[in-house]
Amino acid sequence: MDIQKYLPSDLFHGKTVFVTGGGSGINLGIARSFAAVGAKVAICGRTQSKLDAARAELESLGAKVLTAALDVRDYDALVDAMEKTRRDLGPVSVLVCGAAGNFLCKTEELSPKGFRSVVDIDLVGSFHACRAAYEQLKETQGSILFVSAGQSLIPYIAQAHAGAAKAGIDNLMRNLALEWGPYGIRSNSIVPGPIAGTEGMRRLAPGDIGKKLEGVIPLRRFGEAEEIGNAAVFLASPLAAYITGTTLVVDGGQNLPGAGLFGQIVMDALS
Ligand code: HXC
Repeated sequence: MDIQKYLPSDLFHGKTVFVTGGGSGINLGIARSFAAVGAKVAICGRTQSKLDAARAELESLGAKVLTAALDVRDYDALVDAMEKTRRDLGPVSVLVCGAAGNFLCKTEELSPKGFRSVVDIDLVGSFHACRAAYEQLKETQGSILFVSAGQSLIPYIAQAHAGAAKAGIDNLMRNLALEWGPYGIRSNSIVPGPIAGTEGMRRLAPGDIGKKLEGVIPLRRFGEAEEIGNAAVFLASPLAAYITGTTLVVDGGQNLPGAGLFGQIVMDALS
C-alpha cells in the first residue's frame, strides 16, 4: 500500500481501531490503511461472510483482527462488541463510524420506514458506537472519525434521507468535539467523494450515471478507498493532534460545482 511509503509501518503499533461497517467498501479501505500502519483492527457489520473475507485481507497485512456480526441499530450488541474488543485487542484508540445505508429515492416516493432506516443506521448507529466506545476513548484519549458525505454539505436530489442523516452526523461530530475535547478525545468527519468499486456507487451511480458523473468531477476520476484510508490515518495520527470538530472533504472536488448535474442525471434515470 502507498501509505507505507510515506508513514512508518508502526505508527499505530499497539493501538486498536474499531470500524463500524468495516466488512466492505470505504470502511474496509480505512481498516486496511490502519492495519498497514500497525494497528489492531476490530470490524463490525451485518454480514458474516463479508467480515470473514475482510478479516483475511487485514490479517494478510499483519493485523490482529476481531470481527463482530451486528447491526449498529442494536446498541446492546455494540456495547458487547466494544467489551470484547477491549478484552481481545485492548482499549479502542480510534473509532470509525462508517456503517451506512443508502438508495436513490425521490422524497415523494420515500416511505417513512425507508427514511427512518437510513437515519437509524447512519446517524443513530453512529451515536450508538460513540456512546458504547466512550469509556475506552476517554482512557486512550482517542479519536473519532465519522464517514459523512457531500449530501451533508449540499442537497442532492433523491437523497433527502441520506442528507438528513449525514448532516446529523456532522453536527454530532461537532458536539462531541466540544463535549469530549476536555477528555482529550478528538472528533472529525471525512466527506468521501464517489469511490470506485463500492456498494454506495453501485446504488447511487450505476452504469451510465457513474460514467457521466466521472466526467464532471474536477479531478476527472473516482477516488480509491485507500485515499479515504490515507485521510483517516492522518486525522487519527499525532500529525492532527490539534484538529478537532472539522470536516475533511476528500472528493476530487466533486462537490464544488454543486449537485445540480448529479440531480439532472439521476432524475433522467429515475423517470
Ligand atoms: C425506496 C427503499 C429502497 C429503495 C429500501 N427501501 N430500499 N425505498 N427505494 N431502493 C425502503 C424499504 O422499502 C423499506 O420501507 C425500508 O427502506 C427498509 O427496508 P429494509 O430492506 O427492510 O431495511 P433494512 O434491512 O433495514 O435495509 C436498510 C437499507 C438497505 C438502507 C434500506 O438499502 C441496505 O441494507 N443497504 C445496504 C447498505 C448500503 O446501502 N450501503 C451503501 C451505503 S452508501 P417500507 O416502508 O417499504 O417497508 C452510502 C454513501 C453515502 O451511504 C453517500 C456517498 C456519496
